[in-house]
Amino acid sequence: MAKLRVGLLFGGRSVEHQVSIVSAMAILQALDRQKYDVSLILVDPEGRWHLAPNDHGGSLESILQAPEVVLRADASGGRLDQVDRERSIQFGDETLDVIFPIAHGRGGEDGALQGLLELASVPYVGSGVLSSALQMDKDLAKQILKSADLPVLPWVTIRSSELKRGGDQWVEKINRQLSLPVFVKPANSGSSVGISRAQDVASLALSLKEAAYYDDKVIVERAVDARELEIAILGNEHCKASVPGEIIPRHDFYDYHAKYQDESTELIIPAEIPPSLTKKLQDLAIRSATALEARGMTRVDFLVERETENVWINELNSLPGFTSGSMYPRLWAESGIPFGTLLDQLIDFARERHSQRVNFRTGAPPAAL
Ligand SMILES: Nc1ncnc2c1ncn2[C@@H]1O[C@H](COP(=O)(O)OP(=O)(O)O)[C@@H](O)[C@H]1O
Ligand SMILES: [Mg+2]
Repeated sequence: MAKLRVGLLFGGRSVEHQVSIVSAMAILQALDRQKYDVSLILVDPEGRWHLAPNDHGGSLESILQAPEVVLRADASGGRLDQVDRERSIQFGDETLDVIFPIAHGRGGEDGALQGLLELASVPYVGSGVLSSALQMDKDLAKQILKSADLPVLPWVTIRSSELKRGGDQWVEKINRQLSLPVFVKPANSGSSVGISRAQDVASLALSLKEAAYYDDKVIVERAVDARELEIAILGNEHCKASVPGEIIPRHDFYDYHAKYQDESTELIIPAEIPPSLTKKLQDLAIRSATALEARGMTRVDFLVERETENVWINELNSLPGFTSGSMYPRLWAESGIPFGTLLDQLIDFARERHSQRVNFRTGAPPAAL
């Protein structure tokens, strides 16, 4: 069988550029070379795409110096053209069978990149435009989960423009509606950037201001004393759930540094919880992924209150961390699907979804009989 040409697209313009590189290198190592020819595409911090030359030898420098490429957004099916900057012309170069986008954060997992990949008519791993955008927007994700009768912490949404005009009345309102302490988050964020815990009225005012720097919408929810448990989801419409994992951050909460710089953050896989709770989390995870129409993969994160054992869905991550030590691949390894097989399945799901979509009718309805 001919090998599939996989485009591993990584880097990107978000704060998670470096994390994305580490994830992509882990995937590159685990992809089965009997089945795939891999093309590395590094998106630099300015958003330009560079196609790695064959002799890149793993050097990011050499990839960055490689000629810039663009994806033709004209349904020619995954064709990358080289760009000659001097003359501003493009010439055809390489066609990809499937793209594995591993660019975290804004622009990479919020539906924007997925939109480009749709226009180019190339299969890609993970959720589509709408679901990616919904999973990224904590406010809309909560609205949909709530309307599907799934447990989310009560929250207040505020427009950043309102906060800039004067946040004082909001401080009072939040204090009344939710009672402190609370968590304040930019609606579209990741890696805990712009997120803080507000203990009192003074810190709440600061937290609101801080979050408003990152997005035009801010959400506030009650802070709970909770265990952080996570379930990995794999599949398209009929997805399955992994064993649960637990995160034990050594700091106040699972902030940016705890996520990427602090070796002491511990992942316990599988989480030590009663089978009944495991079952409950798996069921809620599948229902959440279904409600938000996730495809291929997602990671569902829970907060389980220590005192009451109340379970809350904190968020879904359409593009979870993918380094070899990351929760998502480790949860599947523990559930019996090793890294390489997981990648095979994600690529299969991407191609399955694409072939279903291209078969939908797009023309005018047939004439009435
Ligand atoms: N309501 C909350 N109560 C307690 N801790 C929270 C709450 N919301 C978030 N956290 C903590 O903050 C971290 C980051 O918040 P999260 O909503 O997951 O944002 P991100 O998308 O940046 O990961 C969580 O992993 C958890 O440690
Ligand atoms: Mg999170």
